[in-house]
Amino acid sequence: MCGIIGYAGREQAAPILLDGLERMEYRGYDSAGVAVRSETAGLQVKKTKGRLQALADMTHGGADLEGTLGIGHTRWATHGEPNDINAHPHVSENGRIALVHNGIIENYLELKEHLQRQGVTFVSDTDSEVVAQLLEFHYNECGSMLEAVGRCLRRIEGSYAFGIICSDYPNALIAARKDSPLILGYGEHGNFIASDVTAIIKYTRDVAYMDDGEIAVITPESIDVFDDEMSPVEKAHSVVDWDVSAAEKGGYPHFMFKEILEQPEAVRKTISPRIREGRVVLDDLHLTAEEARRFSRIFIIACGSSYHVGMISKYNWERLLRRPVEVCLASEFRYSDPLVDEDTLVIVISQSGETLDTMAAMREAKRRGGRTLAIVNVVGSSIAREADDVLYTWAGPEIAVATTKAYSTQLVLMDLVGLYLADLLGTVAREEYDAILAAAEALPEQMRQVLEHVEKLQYFASRYFNHDSIFFIGRNLDYALGMEGSLKLKEISYIHSEAYASGELKHGTISLIEPGTLVVALGLYTALFDKAMSNVVEVKARGAEVLAVTTESCRERMEKNADSVVAVPDTHPILQPSLGVIPLQLFAYYVALQRGCDIDKPRNLAKSVTVE
Ligand code: G6P
Repeated sequence: MCGIIGYAGREQAAPILLDGLERMEYRGYDSAGVAVRSETAGLQVKKTKGRLQALADMTHGGADLEGTLGIGHTRWATHGEPNDINAHPHVSENGRIALVHNGIIENYLELKEHLQRQGVTFVSDTDSEVVAQLLEFHYNECGSMLEAVGRCLRRIEGSYAFGIICSDYPNALIAARKDSPLILGYGEHGNFIASDVTAIIKYTRDVAYMDDGEIAVITPESIDVFDDEMSPVEKAHSVVDWDVSAAEKGGYPHFMFKEILEQPEAVRKTISPRIREGRVVLDDLHLTAEEARRFSRIFIIACGSSYHVGMISKYNWERLLRRPVEVCLASEFRYSDPLVDEDTLVIVISQSGETLDTMAAMREAKRRGGRTLAIVNVVGSSIAREADDVLYTWAGPEIAVATTKAYSTQLVLMDLVGLYLADLLGTVAREEYDAILAAAEALPEQMRQVLEHVEKLQYFASRYFNHDSIFFIGRNLDYALGMEGSLKLKEISYIHSEAYASGELKHGTISLIEPGTLVVALGLYTALFDKAMSNVVEVKARGAEVLAVTTESCRERMEKNADSVVAVPDTHPILQPSLGVIPLQLFAYYVALQRGCDIDKPRNLAKSVTVE
């Protein structure tokens, strides 16, 4: 949700801001803007509805805007439709303070009415403008920007990452954060703030993560951080260990395609440091066998595709651990009065580590005494820092809104964690343990083999892209996998699609199958292959067109009934979804391509969902 950036340095700010915004456009892309301060031109604000390119065209890539201090924003609308006026930065009434905001100010109406009573006129429908006006109010009152920010923060409720400049301060920008990510970057020619490392990695790898309640003053020479009582805070620095090419398209037509192809390597990086001498080694998980034995209940909490990883893990973990595992959507869990206590293990899965619902659910679980373990991709993200333990997926930066490589790394890491816990609990036989580990080590190479089907999936997409409603069916692990296949398709191609447990079809949904309806049948879970086949026959009998995804060992049998078949190599059943997901991702990608959709930036979506 929304990307913010700020720069205080010795170079021209606007081109740097635009470059950073381009790298963060996945966070929101309905409008964009920058505010830059210069000695001669004062505070200049340029903002416009639409993609960042419109802003770049308007300012000649930023070259038109003088000044070495500035802030920028790319928006995912919450309050007020995407238009020029609601775009950020927002400027206070006297034109001296400009602000960019990511998050939601919950008490903005009350504050707005209060300011209106004082005679302040508002121009936008946003909650963010209220903060710009409130800042002016407090600045007039106390004469210090830092003090004004402090007073303002004490009055607002909600979540925020702010970047603020004031025409009276030629060299300083002020930042503040609560429940929305904000990173400080220490560069050679200037210092930065950004919602995400990708925005500034071209200029520096030396970063620090702001904590909730902190305020920072950023100048070309220094960054000073204060806590909510204005006492100075010493920030620990981190070095980002990937470089700018990881966040660039590198000649590929779309980030999504590049990221699909990166999966074997991402999975290898995630698992290989964690398998040593035939054992799963999780150095970052501080859990004793005794503690593990105490867990009578396990929750897996997540949103979107991360939730689908949880669905697959439920089947796998119950099989390995012989304990009940409940998977919950974070947005439901947090308000469900959940049955969490000291004997509950709560697994939180999140690519970004910033998803607000997931974060809130984790805090709720902690508040009730649960032990939290986060599976996160973004190092230093909020969820990673607040969980009791964190295990990172090493997928590298994922830019396409529709996740692919992060999903795959989450899946395989959850398999390893499940295996590790099963070993601690003594619920997995040695041969089974060895077989799963050997299969996991072979996975990257098998994923490479699946990626050789690219052209086949391209062909199927060209055959089926005109369908307007598609069903994904499967049982057990295949049902959970179908959920991800269906989500992938609908989020980037806008085709209506649903995932169904095959056995449920006959209880209603089968009435929607008519001659020509496309059904994607998953027959990867070989233990139930015959059942899967019966369901294929059932939908065929009603005239459905069936595209099946199965394993090499079942291919021939599937070909007897399905219209089109894609087969992936056989592996241990627990790991089979890791191979099965790739054809579904490629199918969604090529269907969206055929339909001319904006694959990396699908309508209405954003990658990092930091609002409720
Ligand atoms: C958004 C993204 C999805 C992602 C979900 C959860 O909806 O578009 O790809 O699965 O958020 O995000 P998280 O970062 O918590 O995994």
